Amino acid sequence: MRIGDKHYESIWLDSDDNTSVSIIDQSKLPFKFEIIRLKTVDDVFNAIRNMNLRGAPLIGVAAAYGMYLATLEITAYTKTREHLRNASRYLRSARPTAVNLEWAVNRQMDNLSKYCRRDKLIASSLKTARDIASEETTKCRKIGEAGMEVIKKISKSKKGRQVNILTHCNAGWLACVDYGTATAPVYLAHDKGIKVHVWVDETRPRNQGARLTAWELENHGVPYTLITDNTGGYLMQKGDVDIIITGSDRTTVSGDTANKSGTYLKALAARHNNIPFYVALPTSSVDISISNGLKDIPVEERDEKEVLYVEGLYDNEIINARICPEKTRAANYAFDITPADLITGLITEKGICRAKEEEIRKLLSEKKN
Ligand code: MRU
Repeated sequence: MRIGDKHYESIWLDSDDNTSVSIIDQSKLPFKFEIIRLKTVDDVFNAIRNMNLRGAPLIGVAAAYGMYLATLEITAYTKTREHLRNASRYLRSARPTAVNLEWAVNRQMDNLSKYCRRDKLIASSLKTARDIASEETTKCRKIGEAGMEVIKKISKSKKGRQVNILTHCNAGWLACVDYGTATAPVYLAHDKGIKVHVWVDETRPRNQGARLTAWELENHGVPYTLITDNTGGYLMQKGDVDIIITGSDRTTVSGDTANKSGTYLKALAARHNNIPFYVALPTSSVDISISNGLKDIPVEERDEKEVLYVEGLYDNEIINARICPEKTRAANYAFDITPADLITGLITEKGICRAKEEEIRKLLSEKKN
């Protein structure tokens, strides 16, 4: 996607020697634009854990490259299988909720089980990582095409007047490799000349909406307005929201969806106000091994400091300001679960389906991607 005049993706292999990958450091945006080079499995683990990179599809792609970096660490003295198993376990443990992490590491491990020689392991894990990255880009583009049709319909029913889309957190190109999931339909609609406007939830505690989604939309020239997380309900009551599109970190085979905390409350308010609530996701975010989201999806609990402090820019420095009495303790659940029955539809690279098990299974079994 565009940053100024330049096209960027959120992660890329460094082509000078193919022994590292670079990412845009999302923990510094929008205040500083910095690139970090990841050279080891440890670097990838830390970048995921510390959220220098985040967003379910990107976490998967980074982990796939992490497995490639693990093959580069193999020497004549390495117990190869043990080394790869340890690296896969380590990477999988970086963050628990986004299923793409597990999915990408498992795909690498399946692939690596076919080879023994170091050069083959390196070559094939590099190919798999690159394939996953480019497939995720294609999937996001297709999610955009499918979702754009929904926006187009709303625009038509409003006789071309602006379509107001509400989104939560950042399910944009930064969270993927390109386009994004929830934002892909918006970008494509905007590029096609459909009038769109995005209500951006700030998304406490880390403010991915205020910091990342706003920055992305700004760079792409899409009209948007930042709102506090609790404003959406009122806007829905006033008729100022036409559709809600969010991303997913993990969607069960029955359609229950884990996404950034606060998503569930938006879905509840949407149902009360009869507003369509869509989840946009690549099929790599569907976990067919589980059905009950509340029971089966592991929800990450993060450091309370993210709630106790707010990070922002002051005098050109990124600083943390405490927002509560000194002895306050905080709970920090990073995700919540939106039950399938509150979801109007799932927008995937294979098309749109209802959040119902039989439809999800049918969609997953289709060949096209
Ligand atoms: O904690 P984060 O920032 O990784 O949470 C991200 C989200 O909740 C996104 O909405 C989700 O990963 C979908 S990304 C396309």
